[in-house]
Amino acid sequence: PRVAVLAGGLSHERDVSLRSGRRVAEALRSVGVEVSIHDVDSDLVPALGDLRPDLVWPLLHGASGEDGSVRDVVQLLGLRLLGTGPRASRVAWSKPIAKTIVAGAGLATPEFVTLPQSLFRELGAGRVLDTVVARLGLPLVVKPSRGGSALGVNLVTSADDLPRAMVDCFSYSDTALIERAVVGTEVAVSVVDTGDGPVALPPVEIVTDGAYDYDARYNPGRVEYFTPARLDDAVATAVREAAVTAHRSLGLTRLSRTDLIVDGEGQPWFLEVNVAPGMTETSLLPQAAEGAGHNLGDLYRSLVLASLE
Ligand code: DAL
Ligand code: MG
Repeated sequence: PRVAVLAGGLSHERDVSLRSGRRVAEALRSVGVEVSIHDVDSDLVPALGDLRPDLVWPLLHGASGEDGSVRDVVQLLGLRLLGTGPRASRVAWSKPIAKTIVAGAGLATPEFVTLPQSLFRELGAGRVLDTVVARLGLPLVVKPSRGGSALGVNLVTSADDLPRAMVDCFSYSDTALIERAVVGTEVAVSVVDTGDGPVALPPVEIVTDGAYDYDARYNPGRVEYFTPARLDDAVATAVREAAVTAHRSLGLTRLSRTDLIVDGEGQPWFLEVNVAPGMTETSLLPQAAEGAGHNLGDLYRSLVLASLE
């Protein structure tokens, strides 16, 4: 099959996407799949129209890639897509909406409020803090309601941290998600479906010297990963089940990665799900896949073939 990988785009995660696209293309070529890589710019529609690939794999992170808009374009062109369709992408991309849906499916997710920038301006940091702390307590995590790679995400441990956290957050999204910070072990569970239904790969545990921020994610050395995560068997099973529940309840297709925190009691808390999980050298899905004994090229080819059926 001829696969067109989409990578780049104009989101804050452009560089990450270029790396993901390159890695996936290399892996697919190593097993004999014909791959072309396309950036997302004004040439995309004519290029895909001329090429008519058998399948389009959007490895676009952040807005336009994960919010469904480029996926809409691919479908408008009448081309097949690897992964989640536009509507479910849009739903999963919104952290508050995704949290609400998975909570309805029985998963625990930290209590939260959402706050549009306009309302924050109207109320001022002081009143926001009083109201939010009265409801959720401290510490809190402030994050863009839509975003990725931890950009604009900050831990708020004291009242003084809030104004700066809000400013950082609003530079990425016009709505903030403020949630109760859960202390525990950070775990990512990737789900793949090569045709027999969604299967969770081994959980990957993330141990950092500080925050698991953008720099820690993409520069080797600042994070120690444990695959599989050092969890009791029952907890490991619970996090895998949680990721499959998130994948199914949000109507996701082919691959996803759910990020969770396991608290001191072994309770997994859903944070978010990614419809275009990072596929770079330091990303979690490839680590989990290799940890499970998969050759990346073979696994990606299986995802391609399953998407063509
Ligand atoms: N948003 C980045 C690419 C990730 O979730 O891996
Ligand atoms: Mg994400």
